[in-house]
Amino acid sequence: MTDNSYFKNNTHHKPQNFQGRFAYRLVKFMRFFADAFFAKRYGHRAVVLETVAAVPGMVGGMMLHLKSLRRMEDDHGWIHTLLAEAENERMHLMTFVKIAKPTKLERFLVLMVQVIFYVMYLILYMVSAKTAHRVVGYLEEEAVHSYTEYLQRIDDGEVENIAAPKIAKDYWGLPEDATLRDVVVVIRADEMTHREVNHCIADKLENKACDIHLAEEMSPDAQDELRVCESREAP
Ligand SMILES: [Fe+2]
Ligand SMILES: [Fe+2]
Repeated sequence: MTDNSYFKNNTHHKPQNFQGRFAYRLVKFMRFFADAFFAKRYGHRAVVLETVAAVPGMVGGMMLHLKSLRRMEDDHGWIHTLLAEAENERMHLMTFVKIAKPTKLERFLVLMVQVIFYVMYLILYMVSAKTAHRVVGYLEEEAVHSYTEYLQRIDDGEVENIAAPKIAKDYWGLPEDATLRDVVVVIRADEMTHREVNHCIADKLENKACDIHLAEEMSPDAQDELRVCESREAP
């Protein structure tokens, strides 16, 4: 089944300036390596990439926390939003590690990538927080794209639609008979939310009104949270 409706909510934020184009190209460059390494091993891809995805929220949250202490100024709620993003991404990892067991090579790769990505992201955040959030916005666009492909493979029967792990049913409140497909649908909705939050922060740091793209897959709570982000002051 190749139904274009799979991609209807894969909303792209067009780069508007130099930082945007830089962030977009950087993410496309990184995607090239991920595609070459993982090819169609979606479960393994998810395990390794979620170990990376859970880093920026924690770094951003920490940086805003320190900024709030330094300037003795309110954070307008952004610290919690970013720390919640990091926790949510870590739950994606805890879920996928039950679905695909990482190989020794992948565990080694995770170690190397964590050192490099953590340091590079921290430096980028210190140099240009707006570019850092833009990079994450585009990383999340790619995550939505990859999980959309994963859904297609499940529907095509190329990937077995196994039972959802218990940890995922508990975390997302899925029914007892939930499957891998149900898990990928809710995780993809989370990625859409992170995409909007990070593009919104980048917009605000560029002194622009933030352009939120709501999607029907997002839960009502996630949509409310995005509306709150839209109305907040810049971090
Ligand atoms: Fe994720
Ligand atoms: Fe993500």
